Amino acid sequence: MENRYEELKTRCLGCQKCGLASTRHNVVFGVGVPNAEVVFIGEGPGENEDLQGEPFVGRGGALLDKYLAAVDLDRNKNIYITNMVKCRPPQNRDPRPEEVASCIGYLTEQMELIRPKIIVCLGRIAATALIEKGFKVTKQHGQWFEKNGVWMMGTFHPAALLRNPNNKPDAFEDMLSLQRKIREICDHTYDGTELG
Ligand code: URA
Repeated sequence: MENRYEELKTRCLGCQKCGLASTRHNVVFGVGVPNAEVVFIGEGPGENEDLQGEPFVGRGGALLDKYLAAVDLDRNKNIYITNMVKCRPPQNRDPRPEEVASCIGYLTEQMELIRPKIIVCLGRIAATALIEKGFKVTKQHGQWFEKNGVWMMGTFHPAALLRNPNNKPDAFEDMLSLQRKIREICDHTYDGTELG
């Protein structure tokens, strides 16, 4: 698995499948533990992520880490974080459908290797692509969907929470629901001695 993961990552880092390759500084493949039972999927790298090569490292990322810590989750210990597209769309525009289509194979292969039990979609772009086409975050956040044996939930994107802090209590409720789901179906996410 480690080798196949590294091989996939190497392939992705050299990707030239869409126009985003010409403006990126770094491919942002993903971060976390290879045996994660819980995976978070955002939209695409922003400026800081593009410069550092890691997902969610800006202000939104700091907020995400805070929410994760509240339910004993940590990108370096027990989860995995990636995005729908691995390269930054210029000016942080939404990724175009053809860019998502070019990139989705990498995400599919990542999920085949990691085999998570739970996927959390951060924001509309991931939730509409992975849960259902008409997914409305404001109405359907926190609801659970089972797809091919994987439990999926959509919640607010951290950047949206920074723009609209009124949704923070709802986002926190979603994290508590995630914590309950992890306790119910995961084997080792909360195993670490310092966690859980
Ligand atoms: N927004 C995203 O959707 N993903 C990141 O990695 C950073 C910001």
